[in-house]
Amino acid sequence: MSRVYNFSAGPSMLPLPVLEKAQAELLDQGGSGQSVMEMSHRSKEYDVIIKEAEALLRELMEIPDNYKVLFLQGGASTQFAMIPMNLMTGSGKCDCVITGQWSKKAASEFEKYGKVNRVASSADKTFTYIPELDPSTFDPEADFFHITYNNTIYGTRYTELPDTGSVPLVADISSCILSQKIDVKKFGLLYAGAQKNVAPAGVTIVIIRDDLLGRQMDITPTMLNYQIQADNGSLYNTPPCWCIYICKLVLEWLKEMGGIEAMEKINVEKAKILYDYLDSSELFKGTVVPKDRSLMNVPFVTGNEELDAKFVKEAKAAGFVNIKGHRTVGGMRASIYNAMPKEGVVALVEFMKKFEAENK
Ligand SMILES: Cc1ncc(COP(=O)(O)O)c(C=O)c1O
Repeated sequence: MSRVYNFSAGPSMLPLPVLEKAQAELLDQGGSGQSVMEMSHRSKEYDVIIKEAEALLRELMEIPDNYKVLFLQGGASTQFAMIPMNLMTGSGKCDCVITGQWSKKAASEFEKYGKVNRVASSADKTFTYIPELDPSTFDPEADFFHITYNNTIYGTRYTELPDTGSVPLVADISSCILSQKIDVKKFGLLYAGAQKNVAPAGVTIVIIRDDLLGRQMDITPTMLNYQIQADNGSLYNTPPCWCIYICKLVLEWLKEMGGIEAMEKINVEKAKILYDYLDSSELFKGTVVPKDRSLMNVPFVTGNEELDAKFVKEAKAAGFVNIKGHRTVGGMRASIYNAMPKEGVVALVEFMKKFEAENK
């Protein structure tokens, strides 16, 4: 068997020990004589799995008791509608920071349900930085304040959070969940599609403070009502059982690795290896201002589209796959989520050095 280094932005690499454990348990889950895929979601066996996944997430992310953890479907994109339907019922207004495609899409969807105040944007420089925020532009009556914590496509992340006072801060953590410490207490709601750092595509994690439940609009579909999902322990209907099982295995793996703090250290080291090389290279250059660089997604270019394409092709042949930049940005992007080992980043940098020497 040969496995490549997969730098995809998502779905992305899963830890090898997780895949091996899933393989070993595939036909007979815990002596039940069946696979998780075949199990009733209301069975005792499955109850243990979903409860353990939630308990591990609570432990690793230090989620306080006054927050609910929900395992939902529809991806992070469904949250763009679910959030306003459930929260935009006070003033009917929200504040948003525009730092890339995902925050743009979120804001456009919010706009279907109320008034959106775009407090700042980094569109003027192709989202290569996180804009400075001026609290005097924040609406104190807003029902929530939305940010995209890590911008998968453009490779930026917040290193300082806005102080929104009593307005609930809501963050899309799809591409940074479990990769760095996130102080859950600072947020009203956090959400993440699982397919980067948590599990295969198909499950979406929502962490919501209790006081934000029960505020939904009358039109809110049952399945999109946080209160109903919370009251039913994410089992109002059949959940994505397999994805939640893999999520549990990933969380067990992360705990064995030393938890989020230990993982963050590794992630800082991994990102530094790549950024240091980009800063010293005469061929490649990073596209993001240094202070806002993501630990997870590292976009870079040569400045020559043909050379970029040559690099992507040769990298693929050498076992570094999915390194092409997002279709709207071009160039390259190395996504180095938790499951990407340090050796993968070191090997990529060696390959880039060789490419640079050959293409002077
Ligand atoms: C930051 C961010 N938000 C939202 C999404 C959309 O997620 P989904 O495909 O789960 O709807 C993505 C997907 O890559 C993302 O990176």
